[in-house]
Amino acid sequence: MATMVTSTTLTDKQFVQIRGMIKSLAGIHLGDGKKELVKARLNKRLRQLGLGCFDEYIDFVRGDTTGGELIAMLDAISTNLTSFFRESGHFDYLNDKIIPRLKEQAAQSGQNRLRIWSAGCSSGEEPYTIGICTCEGIGNIGAWDAKILATDLSTRVLGMAARGVYTEDRLETVSPQLRNRYFTTQGYRGQRSYRTSDQLRSLMTFSRLNLMDPWPMRGPFDVIFCRNVMIYFDKPTQEKLVGRYGDILGPGGTLFIGHSESLTGCKHKLRYVQPTVYEKS
Ligand SMILES: C[S@@+](CC[C@H](N)C(=O)[O-])C[C@H]1O[C@@H](n2cnc3c(N)ncnc32)[C@H](O)[C@@H]1O
Repeated sequence: MATMVTSTTLTDKQFVQIRGMIKSLAGIHLGDGKKELVKARLNKRLRQLGLGCFDEYIDFVRGDTTGGELIAMLDAISTNLTSFFRESGHFDYLNDKIIPRLKEQAAQSGQNRLRIWSAGCSSGEEPYTIGICTCEGIGNIGAWDAKILATDLSTRVLGMAARGVYTEDRLETVSPQLRNRYFTTQGYRGQRSYRTSDQLRSLMTFSRLNLMDPWPMRGPFDVIFCRNVMIYFDKPTQEKLVGRYGDILGPGGTLFIGHSESLTGCKHKLRYVQPTVYEKS
């Protein structure tokens, strides 16, 4: 017999309280249309905690001085959709424009330094794709001081990213040659799975970072990927964030945003290069 899962009612007032907390904490703006999504995702959390209604849940979040429940709430709300080589034009741009320029600069200055930040990296497909392109494009990556910083708000997806294990279906967009070079196969829960290579993982630093908080790193970064993250923020929040990206990018550094995002209406100092690609002059 199927188990009946009961759903707790979320009133407009409770929704406004919850979305206020989420906005002030993570910058994520939830429009009125997101009420059902919030209800469905947080209902699961209520059941896990054994709470009977959303008022109890709101009190629980506010009273939790460890901040752990806030993290769990944001984990439940945020959308983590991602894939390898997603919006592949950005990786072509990295291969064709950025890496050759950085190699040329390195040859002139004698400094083989590369810093890339995947801000809102979800379960790791984006930073690992960056890593693959970097290894392929640079050639002798071992001779470089190359680092890829991958950050996200959600500890759940960051754990997946750090493990670097993906089921076969997740690798559909990775060519067989690149699979052979950058992944090892293993059995995982009775299914064939792929683990990112030691070389790839050695380039990565995974860290939890709420983009709304102060950033511990100083940069400068050569490239920042912040794709499909700002879509959840309102314009003033986007504007502030893009300003901070501009500050932490090095001269000539590039910012990639998602294809469904736009900085139209945001004041910023970056130079528009082409849709979704911006550069620090
Ligand atoms: C849809 S995923 C995008 C993943 C990847 N960048 C891509 O384009 O494939 C959005 C990610 O942004 C993260 N995120 C949302 N708000 C954030 C915040 N305030 N600080 C850090 N990460 C945030 C979410 O946890 C989620 O993993």
